[in-house]
Amino acid sequence: MTISNIEDLRREARRKLPRMFFDYIDGGAFSERTLARNTEDFDRCTLEQRVLVDLSTRDLSTEFLGARYSMPAMLAPVGFAGSFWPDGEVQAAHAARDAKIPMCLSTFSINSIEEVGAAMPSGLSMQLYVFKDRELASEIMQRARQVGVTTLFLTADTNVSSVRERDTRNGFRTSSSLKLGTIVDLMSRPAWCVRMGLHGRLLLGNVKGKAGVPANLMAQAAYLSANVDASMSWSDLAWLRREWPGKLVVKGVLSVQDAGRALDGGADGVCVSNHGGRQLDGARSSISMLPEIARFVAGRAEVLLDSGIRRGSHIVKAIGLGADAVLLGRAYAYGLGASGRKGVRQAIELLRTETDLTLALMGMCSIDELRANRGAVQHRFTPGPGELAPDVGHLLDGIAREVQASH
Ligand SMILES: Cc1cc2nc3c(=O)[nH]c(=O)nc-3n(C[C@H](O)[C@H](O)[C@H](O)COP(=O)(O)O)c2cc1C
Repeated sequence: MTISNIEDLRREARRKLPRMFFDYIDGGAFSERTLARNTEDFDRCTLEQRVLVDLSTRDLSTEFLGARYSMPAMLAPVGFAGSFWPDGEVQAAHAARDAKIPMCLSTFSINSIEEVGAAMPSGLSMQLYVFKDRELASEIMQRARQVGVTTLFLTADTNVSSVRERDTRNGFRTSSSLKLGTIVDLMSRPAWCVRMGLHGRLLLGNVKGKAGVPANLMAQAAYLSANVDASMSWSDLAWLRREWPGKLVVKGVLSVQDAGRALDGGADGVCVSNHGGRQLDGARSSISMLPEIARFVAGRAEVLLDSGIRRGSHIVKAIGLGADAVLLGRAYAYGLGASGRKGVRQAIELLRTETDLTLALMGMCSIDELRANRGAVQHRFTPGPGELAPDVGHLLDGIAREVQASH
């Protein structure tokens, strides 16, 4: 099958993976309205076309999270990635490293922090779920530091886990043992069974062998989900700030108020995210919240965005509306499920090509140029309280640019 875009990788992943794992990647909370809206809302942004510009030298490289990368994108934390392909997290790390972009490892990874750290000596971030057992969180941070992780992502939107009805139907993370239906599902993808069977037993690499943690993957997943600390609040950010000396990003910020709390708590960055529509069904899309959050943060911290990115034009829109970089979730998880490291590489390169062409057709050669010409991305989102309507905001931005240019 010719792979020409992320949707092709999605179809390929559906063909290759047992339904339980494909649905885990693809699904969202309840009616999946926020999941759909995340991508649909990119269509409410338009791009300005500019022609007859010298496009012979182009460069997507940019700086974020303290280093320069080949494009403004990184791999998002994706739990259980090692069950989509053998050594899934290590394979994704190799692909990210080859593509010169960073990656954030999930607490719920199959490969351990140490294994992924060895595959990616720089550019690796760690995502943290804080468990009731705070010792475990401290230990994970210590191990992350030891392998050279410099940025910690605190996932803030999962004090409680939402319901993903596809997972409920498939018994994923809701049942601690394999049911007959699950076994039939797994057997329906013999190539996956052979690949994974030859690889050996799947366990959560960061917690396996710990006292109280069960000894099989399904039970480990159910156990850990139930042990995420539901009492975690903004006051605990101070504790985390003391524990973690590196960069700290709060992931799951979807309002100006929460962005303010994150900054007050000492965060170096916020990730505008609704967890890819996997938590609050009915929440606004990440891209629609970005303009007001970016305007509020106004350079005091880094602004990252995820949820819904499937096209290079989505990356251009996110940067144009104020993000420093984006995180890719399902886009690369489909690639991993489709063909391991090769598929992740394909996902990144497809998005790179699309981003480059989109920018070029807008008459721009670099991410810096896009940042300097943000008015080239227009949006029609409802303004938040105290915000200017988009047209007025752009008008003022345009006047400011004219004034600057005339000096
Ligand atoms: C299969 C899957 C597993 C995920 N696991 C985690 C996780 O362990 N920790 C976390 O913070 N976010 C997790 N996320 C959320 C992603 O980090 C990211 O916020 C989301 O995928 C972005 O939306 P997108 O998939 O539409 O790009 C997961 C997402 C998916 C699709």
